[in-house]
Amino acid sequence: MPSLKIKTLHYESLPSTNTEVARLASDGASEGLSIVADEQTAGRGRLQRMWSSPMGAGLYFSVLLCPKIPLHSWPLITFMAALATGDALLSAAGLPTEIKWPNDLLAGERKICGILSETVDTPEGRAVVVGIGINLTAQAYPPALHGLATSVEEEIGTPADRHLLLTSLQTAIAHWYDELLNLDGAEKILRAWIDRSSYAEGRLVDVVNGDQSFRGITRGVEPDGALRVETGSNEIRVVRAGDVVSVRSAN
Ligand code: BTN
Repeated sequence: MPSLKIKTLHYESLPSTNTEVARLASDGASEGLSIVADEQTAGRGRLQRMWSSPMGAGLYFSVLLCPKIPLHSWPLITFMAALATGDALLSAAGLPTEIKWPNDLLAGERKICGILSETVDTPEGRAVVVGIGINLTAQAYPPALHGLATSVEEEIGTPADRHLLLTSLQTAIAHWYDELLNLDGAEKILRAWIDRSSYAEGRLVDVVNGDQSFRGITRGVEPDGALRVETGSNEIRVVRAGDVVSVRSAN
């Protein structure tokens, strides 16, 4: 039996499931509390972006975790969530995905899921809220992202079974969270993440952070999940923030 007991509250509409879980965590909610909403009116993404969350178009889910692991391994919580979401999409929808650093899930090179992990102070100490947004239909993402984003329905040709996807996600999070807490958990998560990411090694990418960017070839990840990128001058730069964009060769 997994040690994490996930208890899920369901809301029709919320500003953001992450914000609500963080609020309840500050008030002393227990690890495993999770919230799913049919719509978010102020859904949030990485790097202060908004996360489009129309009614019924996506799965908007957040869970509270209080992992007893060294602080430097906390970025791996997001890696763990990406592995769990990949498992859930495969088992519930038969949909294989791959992971793009740091925490996007892609289907056929298009983004189908984003993950936002945020730390929160609770009466028991520091905890993390992991928020997962999965596009279920094409209405989930803005038309401007057509070609860059996709949804479960577009990929499998039938509507997603939202309930099955949610229960599969809960099961997979409980499984991978147990793995993370094991003595060799960090290595295992990293290995599994690298196996599922064509971005981890040998990929020509632009790394973009605000108005700064540079080009290089990915050379694996650091033990804390930071991306190693080799630049033209054979220097390895370690990337902890920003976006990675695949560069296609001209021919
Ligand atoms: C990203 O790719 O930028 C991360 C997107 C994370 C979206 C999810 S939806 C559920 C949870 N609530 C939020 O406000 N954000 C996350």
